[in-house]
Amino acid sequence: MTPTPRELRAFADALAREAGQILLEGWGRIHHPERKGRIDLVTEYDRRSEALVLARIRERFPTHAILAEESGVQEGAATTRWLVDPLDGTTNFAHNYPFFCVSIAAEVDGEVVAGVVHDPTRNETFAAARGEGATLDGQPIRVSDVASLEDALLVTGFHYSIREKPEPALSLFRDFLLRAQGIRRDGSAALNQCYLACGRFDGFWESHLSPWDMAAGTLIVREAGGLVTRFDGSPMRLDGRQILASNGRLHEAMQALLAAAEARA
Ligand code: IPD
Ligand code: CA
Ligand code: CA
Repeated sequence: MTPTPRELRAFADALAREAGQILLEGWGRIHHPERKGRIDLVTEYDRRSEALVLARIRERFPTHAILAEESGVQEGAATTRWLVDPLDGTTNFAHNYPFFCVSIAAEVDGEVVAGVVHDPTRNETFAAARGEGATLDGQPIRVSDVASLEDALLVTGFHYSIREKPEPALSLFRDFLLRAQGIRRDGSAALNQCYLACGRFDGFWESHLSPWDMAAGTLIVREAGGLVTRFDGSPMRLDGRQILASNGRLHEAMQALLAAAEARA
């Protein structure tokens, strides 16, 4: 029998905290990351966190499929698939900048039904189950009601191929910077979505993301009353590489800036 979204959330919650403990063990050390690309790093702790998460999933749900950042696809007979980012914010972690997390989501029949994002340095856990709302440390959260870009704190991120392909990401950053109250770029797409879900940010856009960066956070934003689409407002797909997430009220204005950049390109 397929576990319920609540059961999947409870399992992911305990697991994300356990993996977060591994990241805390590495916190503050001098790291010697390997390079997956020119500026794309991987540390021993990405691997240790992922090994733990995968072992626990296999132990409890041996038939479930898994898509995990460092080890890729593992097929399974069941219709449930886990999406795992064992350390989102690796560049921050490698520099001991305290903004990184573990992100775990469960998809049933292609739909994300449970998601948990755990920030070990603040000991904050964001979680959602489909139809059950979103929480921060067990307390319900909601997106902000900021209605104009002028009053909005936005967040974005830059992909690892930014040096090879700086546009349109750079000019979009400029466009938003000149319209919003403020912009942050803090290096964890999963936490960026969670901060939007609890009203700390009002909007988030980024391209070149992977399914494990977006899966848990997307459910958490939606369950907190936010809107998540592609840049052009069409339905967001986990394999679609881009995300526009907002409190709903800012969506049209953000979409207009993204469309203008697209038209210029
Ligand atoms: C990265 C972070 C970052 C985003 C990158 C992602 P990683 O994930 O989410 O905020 O800008 O595009 O790849 O490599 O730290 O797991
Ligand atoms: Ca990531
Ligand atoms: Ca990662």
